[in-house]
Amino acid sequence: MEQTDILQEIQGIQQQALDVLQAVEDEKALEAWRVSHLGRSSAVMQVFSQISKVPAELRPQVGQEANKVKVALEDAFQQKSDGIKQAALEHTLKSDVLDVTMPGRRPLRSGIHPANQTLRKIYKIFGDMGFQVYRSREVETDAFTFEYLNMPPYHPARDMWDTFYTTEEDVVLRTHTSPGQIHVMRENAPEPVRAILPGMCYRYEQISARSEIQFNQVELIAIGKDITFGDLKGTLQDFVNRLFAREVRTRFRPNHFPFTEPSAEMDVECFVCGGQGCPVCKHAGWLEILGCGMVHPVVMQNGGYDPNVYTGFAAGMGPERITMLLNKIEDIRYFWSNDIRFLEQF
Ligand code: DAH
Repeated sequence: MEQTDILQEIQGIQQQALDVLQAVEDEKALEAWRVSHLGRSSAVMQVFSQISKVPAELRPQVGQEANKVKVALEDAFQQKSDGIKQAALEHTLKSDVLDVTMPGRRPLRSGIHPANQTLRKIYKIFGDMGFQVYRSREVETDAFTFEYLNMPPYHPARDMWDTFYTTEEDVVLRTHTSPGQIHVMRENAPEPVRAILPGMCYRYEQISARSEIQFNQVELIAIGKDITFGDLKGTLQDFVNRLFAREVRTRFRPNHFPFTEPSAEMDVECFVCGGQGCPVCKHAGWLEILGCGMVHPVVMQNGGYDPNVYTGFAAGMGPERITMLLNKIEDIRYFWSNDIRFLEQF
């Protein structure tokens, strides 16, 4: 075959393919065109696969020409494809009624976890009263969790706290924030100190609507000279008034905690029924919100203060429990199950 014949034939392939492409108007036809003009058995591809039959001296030129055609067809394909897409888009924009006055879709907002919202309120209130926020460790020794708090080994009061023990001897997950009392006292003795200690606590409990294995507590401690039970009552009364943003009726019931003497629990009037009795307060008219008392002399001494010179009060409360009461949440498990339908409500 003559050189010019072959080259002309190759040119012809390009022209013919482009002529057909002119008439293509949609994606489907375009795909069919691609298969027949750039696919494996297309004319241009045949040139490559048959090139061994071309006289050796012509091969380089034939190869180059065929390649030019292939590139040209690929470019034309791409242009056509872009054109079709653009046309489809314009069609949609023209034919769909676009109501620019329609309200947009609200993006999901993140928020502060309900337990943390209550914690922040507690920080603010006690901060305003001159208490510093103190962080203490979640992994504790047996001594800080129990012994220094007036519960020697085998003391029956330890049964009040179901404890997660670790494989490390003497190392436990704290069951309450009270061990922080000892840390705060030891860091500050013999200076007077007022602090709150918030944080996670862990208990080896059967999880139920009323008890979780992890939860927050906030510990309160004030040490100084001449601090009395009256100071404790006044501070806590002021605290709940600020927390509930009104004058709240309270009562103190005698109780027992090994680390305080005397000890009490504070109740607030049921804010659902106002003290009349309802299912939320189990018809008592009162809701228990914290434990408290005067720091026991043994604890005082373990903290490095002379119990003959210093007195102090302490209290412990559960922010999840307070949040439950405030929002009539009936199941504590909601707090840590990460269900967006629950969290979104706060
Ligand atoms: N630590 C106690 C608990 O987890 C709560 C508590 C009671 C803390 C009385 C105190 C207190 O500081 O004085 O049940």
